[in-house]
Amino acid sequence: MDSTFFILQILIYLLPKVNSLNFSYPSVFIFGDSNSDTGGLAAGIAFPVGPPNGQTFFQEPAGRFCDGRLIADFLMDAMDLPFINPYLDSVAAPDFQNGCNFATGGSTVLPAKANAISPFSFGIQVAQFIRFKARVLELLANDKKLQEYLPSQDSFGQGLYMIDIGQNDIDGAYYSKSDSQVLALIPTILSELQNGIKKLYEEGARNFWIHNMGPLGCLPRIIAIFGKNTSKLDELQCVGSHNQAAKLFNLQLHALSADFQAEFPEAKVIYVDIYSIKSDLIANYSQYGFKQALAACCGYGGLPLNFDTRIACGETKVLNGTMVTAGACSNTIEYVNWDGNHYTEAANQHVSSQILSGKYLDPPPNVDLHFS
Ligand SMILES: *[C@@H]1O[C@H](CO)[C@@H](O)[C@H](O)[C@H]1NC(C)=O
Ligand SMILES: *[C@@H]1O[C@H](CO)[C@@H](O)[C@H](O)[C@H]1NC(C)=O
Ligand SMILES: *[C@@H]1O[C@H](CO)[C@@H](O)[C@H](O)[C@H]1NC(C)=O
Ligand SMILES: *[C@@H]1O[C@H](CO)[C@@H](O)[C@H](O)[C@H]1NC(C)=O
Repeated sequence: MDSTFFILQILIYLLPKVNSLNFSYPSVFIFGDSNSDTGGLAAGIAFPVGPPNGQTFFQEPAGRFCDGRLIADFLMDAMDLPFINPYLDSVAAPDFQNGCNFATGGSTVLPAKANAISPFSFGIQVAQFIRFKARVLELLANDKKLQEYLPSQDSFGQGLYMIDIGQNDIDGAYYSKSDSQVLALIPTILSELQNGIKKLYEEGARNFWIHNMGPLGCLPRIIAIFGKNTSKLDELQCVGSHNQAAKLFNLQLHALSADFQAEFPEAKVIYVDIYSIKSDLIANYSQYGFKQALAACCGYGGLPLNFDTRIACGETKVLNGTMVTAGACSNTIEYVNWDGNHYTEAANQHVSSQILSGKYLDPPPNVDLHFS
């Protein structure tokens, strides 16, 4: 090999990655819903997450409501950490050395109602974390060899606590409540969220990474159900009421983050503006290499939404006398939306790279993101 070329390669390797956030934590603890679920609901209630979920990256279903990796998975990659195992998965490789994932699909901030998909609301997830930590410390005290599988005592204080939840509270409320009733519920949801975050702090958590809510009104399911009358659609062609609720939720979540930071100066609270990243992606999809912003890749019914409430991604059933399948599109990377409710791996990768650019974080990453 030409030696000049070789030296150039080394220099490039040594250069800091442009526009890339340099952050690292020894462990990550994740709380949330299906946006961050790496197999918790599948393990916890045997929820069927069948094919074609997982097909793009894992080549098989991997407990994720996605064709591949989630935002949380890409962020783990950026920290050179393995994907985080679900707390509830009793038959996976028992490795929690770099953290534990408590997020489950369908979870709400408010306590789960009897008919909820997931019983693991935020309060339960926090309680599970507290038990997890107590068990880890107890086991480590008795058997040092378990260090190989469990987070160290220090990594609870040094780790990152990633929280992304609340979308199902708002989403679910719209099925039975008026717009103003939904908006009035937001402070109650956030007060419950704050209680949980405070409990984590009392347990020694210091680094918080709080994702805000994406544009809920842009999910194909929401448009199919609530956007039939075009007067309900906003400038993104999404359901305006749901997007307004997400924005109001985010405004109050942002205030909560700032208040928490002010009350607990020892904490480092970072608010991540997922809404702006996702709405930019939906408005400007072609600029980012996508061809479909609002149609589900995996669904039934064809464009514009390719979504039918009667049949979920991966299902085959008789509709109106004909056997039909809600299968995946052949060109997944051209779609922003995967199954009507969740984003594709390609979209998640875009969102993660935008997060890592640092532009959507508050405070911005010129403050020290490293634990020292
Ligand atoms: C990233 O952070 C680590 C730990 O603080 C530091 O050693 C490394 O030099 C940083 N890298 C860049 C490219 O800034
Ligand atoms: C759509 O909504 C507008 C404004 O609320 C209303 O006047 C109109 O009748 C609705 N159209 C249909 C087809 O329901
Ligand atoms: C779409 O891109 C334009 C130009 O970059 C930008 O001004 C606009 O804010 C973007 N739309 C959204 C919804 O972010
Ligand atoms: C069922 O099929 C008939 C005949 O093709 C069609 O007119 C009707 O709209 C269909 N109904 C539904 C709910 O798809």
